Amino acid sequence: MTFKHTGSGTVYLVGAGGATQRMNLFRFTTSLTALLLVAGSALAQPLPERQQALRHLLLHDCGSCHGLSLRGGLGPPLRPEDLEGKSANFLAVVIYQGRPGTAMPPWHPFLSEAEARWLADLIKEGIR
Ligand code: HEC
Repeated sequence: MTFKHTGSGTVYLVGAGGATQRMNLFRFTTSLTALLLVAGSALAQPLPERQQALRHLLLHDCGSCHGLSLRGGLGPPLRPEDLEGKSANFLAVVIYQGRPGTAMPPWHPFLSEAEARWLADLIKEGIR
C-alpha cells in the first residue's frame, strides 16, 4: 500500500489492487500515530520476509550445532523447556556476542540486536 499526499489535506490510500480510498488528513494522521505506538510497544519486529530468513537461519545454521530440531548436538538443546530460568535478554546477548572460549560464535555480523532478541523470543516460545 502506498500513500499519496495531494497537498490539499486529502490523502489517497492506494491499495495493492489499485483501489483508491480517500481519507481525511486528520483521521489519517491519528490512525498512523496509533499504528506507530502499537509497533513501538512490541519492540521493533523484523519484517515478515526477514522473519522467514531468521527462521531458516535458526533451523539450518544454528541447527547444525544445536540439532536440526534444536534438541542439542555440539551445542546444548534450545527447546523452551531447556531454557527455563534463562531470560530472553540473556539468550539474546549469547546469540549476539557468542560465548568466547566455546564453539558458540557471535552472530552480530549477520544479525541486528533486535533480530537476536527476536530469535531469543522464538526459541523461548518454541519454533513450532
Ligand atoms: C558452531 C556451533 C554453533 C552454532 C553454529 C551455534 N551455536 Fe549456539 N552454542 C554453541 C555451543 C557449543 C554453546 C554452549 C556454549 C557453552 O559451553 O556455554 C551454545 C550456546 C548457545 C546458547 C545459550 C544456551 C544456554 O542454555 O545458555 C544460545 C541461546 C545459542 N547458543 C543460540 C544459538 C543460535 C540462535 C544460533 C544461530 C544463530 C547458534 N546458537 C549457533 C554452538 C553453536
